[in-house]
Amino acid sequence: METMSRAPGKLMLLGEHAVVYGRKCIVTAVDAPVTVSLRSHEKFVINAPDLKISHEFTLSDPEYPKEVSFAATAVKMFNAKFALPSPVSITTKSLLSSERKVGLGSSASVTAAVMKALSNHFSIKLEKKELFDLCYKTILEVQKVGSGFDAAAAVFGGTLMYKKGQPMPIKSEGLDLTIGYTGMPAHTTEIVRKVAAQVDEQPGYYENIFDEIEKLVIMATKAIEEKDWASLGSLMNENQEFLREMQVPSEELGVSSEIIEKLINSALDAGAYGAKLSGAGVGDCIIAISPIERKNEVEEAIARAGGTIIDAKVNVPGAE
Ligand code: MEV
Repeated sequence: METMSRAPGKLMLLGEHAVVYGRKCIVTAVDAPVTVSLRSHEKFVINAPDLKISHEFTLSDPEYPKEVSFAATAVKMFNAKFALPSPVSITTKSLLSSERKVGLGSSASVTAAVMKALSNHFSIKLEKKELFDLCYKTILEVQKVGSGFDAAAAVFGGTLMYKKGQPMPIKSEGLDLTIGYTGMPAHTTEIVRKVAAQVDEQPGYYENIFDEIEKLVIMATKAIEEKDWASLGSLMNENQEFLREMQVPSEELGVSSEIIEKLINSALDAGAYGAKLSGAGVGDCIIAISPIERKNEVEEAIARAGGTIIDAKVNVPGAE
């Protein structure tokens, strides 16, 4: 018998970086799913046909190849908690074009989809919070840093206010964003580490920025619940200013960058209520929120400025 599962990607709305330091952020699940099919097998195997990989492994391997590390570690963590009755063969697929993979894909989606498939396959009932805790633990085991916001989006779906380890779903009907990919991949772990070095050097400066960002997150949560998209836009703009003020060695615009600023300005000039980077910054994606009648112009302006519009729905369901 084969068990199928899928989990969405993620997009940070407000609060990136600050969330790593215990502040709240807002994250939405994006229709950029990873699918997993799983069956009992005589050995542990992970197939990733997209990457032309088929990897046999054991649960005691000291480490796993990068391409399969999240899926294999997810199996190992699941086994440590529930003792699997048999090995499994897993096939993972990403329904993402390469651009969307860079911008929205997430190792958390693979992790959540594998965990979900294991729990269904072996009829092990897992509450969403338990599933999230296992996914977050897996992500920390593999990449060592991270707030777990991506695991929260992958497991719970929808839009969440999120504080390290604590997902809080919010009412977010009608939320619609424009997503523009800069063409530059994100180097999340590297940027998170650079920011950490700066926080060590100037803790007061950064703690203040993070506190201010958290205030914006709390106001933005209310704006989303009230469908007050104009206020959400201006809070996003304020958040972007703080991201620009974070000082990162060899970057002049904080965790922003020239291309990010160019795409943001094009969106604002075309009538967006607000626009900001999303995620670790320097490259990756920008997001914009616009009055419905300006959305097309905003998309065209971002594309003219060199961005790639990513046509993906936000606020979609979690792992299923
Ligand atoms: C990266 O997409 C978002 C960061 O806040 C890191 C994290 O929360 O794990 C920079």
